[in-house]
Amino acid sequence: MVYDGADANDLFRRHRATLPVWMPLFYERPLEIVAGAGCTVTDGEGREYLDFYSGISTNVLGYGIREIRDAVERQLRSGIVHTSTFYLIRAQVEAAERIGRLSGIEDPVVFFTCSGTEAVETALLLATQYRDSNQVISLRYAYHGRSFGALGATGDRRWQGRGLSPLRVAHVPGGGRRRGALRDLDDTAYVRACAEELEETLTTSTPERTAAMIVEPVQGVAGAVPLVAGQLSAYKEILDGHGIPLIVDEVQTGWGRTGRFWGYQWHDVTPDLLVFAKGGGNGISMGGVVGRRDIMSCLPVPSLSSFGGNPLSMAAVRATIDYIEAHSLPAHAEKTGALLLQELRRRLVGEPWVREVRGSGLLLAVEYAHPGGSARSAPQMAKAVQEACRGRGLLVGLGGTAHDCVRIMPPLTLSAAQAREGAHLVAAATKDVRES
Ligand SMILES: Cc1ncc(COP(=O)(O)O)c(C=O)c1O
Repeated sequence: MVYDGADANDLFRRHRATLPVWMPLFYERPLEIVAGAGCTVTDGEGREYLDFYSGISTNVLGYGIREIRDAVERQLRSGIVHTSTFYLIRAQVEAAERIGRLSGIEDPVVFFTCSGTEAVETALLLATQYRDSNQVISLRYAYHGRSFGALGATGDRRWQGRGLSPLRVAHVPGGGRRRGALRDLDDTAYVRACAEELEETLTTSTPERTAAMIVEPVQGVAGAVPLVAGQLSAYKEILDGHGIPLIVDEVQTGWGRTGRFWGYQWHDVTPDLLVFAKGGGNGISMGGVVGRRDIMSCLPVPSLSSFGGNPLSMAAVRATIDYIEAHSLPAHAEKTGALLLQELRRRLVGEPWVREVRGSGLLLAVEYAHPGGSARSAPQMAKAVQEACRGRGLLVGLGGTAHDCVRIMPPLTLSAAQAREGAHLVAAATKDVRES
């Protein structure tokens, strides 16, 4: 359906009247996406956009992918959308076998949920039960979801609210070193300081037992901030010394987005638990945890998710993994991501309002700050650039610790030509705003 602005205004009014005010919408004139093909989407007014946001990184393959549609339609034709995990579900078993093998964890066990938050919550539940402790270590600026436990582990107070939580949480440094005492250290000195910080925290301020440390390999919501080379392995060595499991939160970094199948694979570690969600069903809701058998088996009571592992989403998961593997998408994301980063940097480094262009694979961000080397972040600039990108036919996200980043996460099937076009559009939008 192609409609006019009045319909869009009416939908916006009804949205505001019925949905919570704390659920943000992008854009002055919010957008309804009604169709998509490949890396392109169409809005209700018939305008096409190159999509560099992919539904917050869920549409990893892009839109209208025949193989996914076929798998979902086959399942629908069987008459079964849902049964229950009280019955055998072939697609669930097969998806678990595939994810288990891909996880790199020895003798893995998998549990499926419907979202990233629920998956993080499950990993925290397992770790706290396994270690008989509610103490968790998390990274500063982390985002782990919107439930009580996941919010507690989140290290960004703009998402936390009151921060009430069933967990005790201590935060240690993540990948960003813009502020604080570790600012301006080189990589080697920074990693050493981070390791000392964790060791000191574990030996002086946390209870005798700590349940787990939870880590995003690239801090996505914080503005695509990769952990520093050597940082995760330094943390893991210390955790191993204390017998503390490492949870990697791959909700945003999984399925090839960073240029490896999992983001942790850039680092010389094997996690004890791995949390996944978002892109695993190419837009069909899914999530889960894969981990060491001893930890995954530690619950002394029955536990299940009514919808987790359901036949429809598992059919999509199997087909999505097939597609990722058949098209070598992690390697493609590494190559196309490097091109996109290079094209963005070529056009934007030196722009007065641009502080940094960074990321890994196709998980990238442009951070804006006031000109002249000022430490003052420029969230209004990031927001205005997002609007200007839309005006030029490109969808991007927003994020960063001060809402000062444009976030870039296109489908992993992005072509080199689309990467160049998108970089041009971001740079042109930045210039539009600077000159306005
Ligand atoms: C790293 C990370 N963990 C967890 C979540 C929560 O996932 P969901 O929104 O599916 O609950 C997100 C969502 O953006 C995320 O980026």
